[in-house]
Amino acid sequence: MSGQQDAIGVGLIGFGTIGTGVVKVLQDNAAEIEQRLGFPLRMARIADLDLETDRGVDLTGIHFDSDTPGLIADPNVDIVIELVGGYDVPRKFILEAFAAGKHVVTANKALLAVHGREIFGAASAAGVDIAFEAAVAGGIPILRALREGLAGNKIETVLGILNGTTNYVLTEMESTGEDFDVVLKRAQELGYAEADPTFDVDGIDAAHKLALLTTMAYGAEVVFDEIPTEGIRGLVPLDFELAAEFGYRIKLLGIAKCHRDDDGTERIESRVNPTLIPKSSMLANVDGAMNAVEVIGNAVGPTLYYGAGAGEMPTASAVVGDLIEISREIKRGGAGPVAPLSYLPQHIVAKESVSNDELMGCAYLRFTTKNDPAALGQLTGALGGESVGVASVVQREDGGDSVTIVVLTQTASEAALGRALAKIEALPVVMEAPRVIRIEEEV
Ligand code: HSE
Repeated sequence: MSGQQDAIGVGLIGFGTIGTGVVKVLQDNAAEIEQRLGFPLRMARIADLDLETDRGVDLTGIHFDSDTPGLIADPNVDIVIELVGGYDVPRKFILEAFAAGKHVVTANKALLAVHGREIFGAASAAGVDIAFEAAVAGGIPILRALREGLAGNKIETVLGILNGTTNYVLTEMESTGEDFDVVLKRAQELGYAEADPTFDVDGIDAAHKLALLTTMAYGAEVVFDEIPTEGIRGLVPLDFELAAEFGYRIKLLGIAKCHRDDDGTERIESRVNPTLIPKSSMLANVDGAMNAVEVIGNAVGPTLYYGAGAGEMPTASAVVGDLIEISREIKRGGAGPVAPLSYLPQHIVAKESVSNDELMGCAYLRFTTKNDPAALGQLTGALGGESVGVASVVQREDGGDSVTIVVLTQTASEAALGRALAKIEALPVVMEAPRVIRIEEEV
């Protein structure tokens, strides 16, 4: 199919940060890639609307224009890389590529989390591959680990830091005391953030990734917008300071657990929220834009994967890994890919979910109250009225009319905590909605 003898030809749609990284990796590591494959991987063609910007890479021998249909139809292109981002446009390109018999590599977690059923179904119907290692945890080959290395396990837990931007923001806010907006801007300049950074800060990007991980870990069909998702907005320097005093750090975690009942029923817990985790845990020491994912399998036990979760070259590394895997399959004569979502499509089914109300745990609660000596008693009374025990209390006065009271609870059900917080919010002494951060001791 490809023009160059024995080479597999690649076409890239979307020549931005990651696309540029892919060109660099293919050029810089061409010898190693060929030595591993036995044939070259050749960037045959690139399509982008911006033909002017100098990406700082050598485009000699690469057909570069804005003609995406031409790229998809080009017989020199065996594998199409989609790095456009968004929903409608890349969805159309991917479906057109399948229709043309082309395999596709994408980093588009949003598209796959929301339109996965259609995209994976279309790939399967066309008998082509779709690979998306770069969509989850950047350069960490976590999808390949779930699909292949851990495929002999019943997976019990997948838990991790899945968003580089928020991890960078949390780390910098904690260490420099800088404002959220200043740090977020820097994350954008470093190329970590999504085009719409609210996807990062509100936990949506992590939830997109968690949706894919949950399906791959448990064969569970996941409705992305049913994943309880909370982002990092509203955290203040005092939260980091007090978390440290209590022995914790704050991380935005994506958590997917399988609750297996004695009768064999599987129920899935899947959520994204800022979390206090013990300072001494390995995840607590994952800083900057790095990601880490812990997977616990019933045979292997706990395993941990760490690496750059965002950025040009790490994400390009994941894209090129997918190109290599697909190229091997093409050369083997299309013996059939490993199921992209790890489970065969007929075994990906809706599974009951565990609601947050059923969860038991401890929490960090931050209240802003009037500077009234009765405030603390009213808060602890309301908590105690719902059997939510208090483990520690810290009170900080701001010198004005309000005080901040932080409570660490003992283990309680989320439902009981929710009832107590509803009563607390209605107390006249309470000035704003309480901030709740869950605590996970077992990470
Ligand atoms: N915006 C994403 C992040 C990019 O910060 O993790 C990688 O998916």
